[in-house]
Amino acid sequence: MAAKKSILDLQKMKKDGVKLTWLTSYDYPTSVFAEKAGIEMLLVGDSMGMCVYGYSAGTLPVTMDQCIVHTEAVRRGAPNTFVVGDMPFLSYQTTSAEAVKNAGRFYKEAGVDAVKLEGGRRIIDMVKAIVNAGMVVCGHIGLTPQSSGQIGGFKAQGLTAESAHELIKDARAIQEAGTAFLLLEAVPPEVGQLITKDLKIPVYGIGAGPYVDGQLLIVSDMLGIFQAFTPKFVKKYANLADHIMKAMEDYAKEVKESKFPEDKHCYKMIEGEFGKMMKILEKKE
Ligand code: KIV
Repeated sequence: MAAKKSILDLQKMKKDGVKLTWLTSYDYPTSVFAEKAGIEMLLVGDSMGMCVYGYSAGTLPVTMDQCIVHTEAVRRGAPNTFVVGDMPFLSYQTTSAEAVKNAGRFYKEAGVDAVKLEGGRRIIDMVKAIVNAGMVVCGHIGLTPQSSGQIGGFKAQGLTAESAHELIKDARAIQEAGTAFLLLEAVPPEVGQLITKDLKIPVYGIGAGPYVDGQLLIVSDMLGIFQAFTPKFVKKYANLADHIMKAMEDYAKEVKESKFPEDKHCYKMIEGEFGKMMKILEKKE
């Protein structure tokens, strides 16, 4: 098994042009599979709001306590993988002290290797405070789901010169504040490439084209489990929904038709014990 990556490895990979593989994960079994498959980084994303909890309000209702419970499970499943805890809405936007306290919970309670915060220049103070407390921070700019209301929904960013320029200013500011790496979401490849070249820190993308230092996908999207909508940047590497539906329908049919369980699924009583039990019952009656 490959050794767990450190931020020094991430920097070296950028320097050497080696791409990083990154997936979200929310639970123990998925994390076991991811680590075995050699995925190098896991994000316990607040996308759990949609992918696990089915909230119609998306990521906004997700709490710190939910994130901690899921991150603990991910850490147990992938002890040798770099795990990033995603700071949920209002766990860091209020004050720097609150941001440090909540980032610290990810470290102390769930054993993360980094925490991720959405936003550029407007969260600089919180980023600095978390970094000053000795933690590793991943920035996240572009489409930022926690503030998607302000940008009119889950919309690609950086499509105009002005908007791309704002993103570059955010990326530089977030690097300057001490983030160890940056996630760019839903921007054109040219913008992904420009920011990746411009920054010294690794820049990873989800929907940011091929020229970034590594790729992130949401595990429920790439496995074909999440059904509500599919963003343009998703490639489905499997269609597990079909397999899950078929297995459940087959099971229901076999139960109704008394085809399950078969003899091989049943425990055997020790030879002669059933007869003895019947005699005990007869005596008592
Ligand atoms: O919560 C999450 O999974 C994320 C991705 C959308 C980048 O932040």
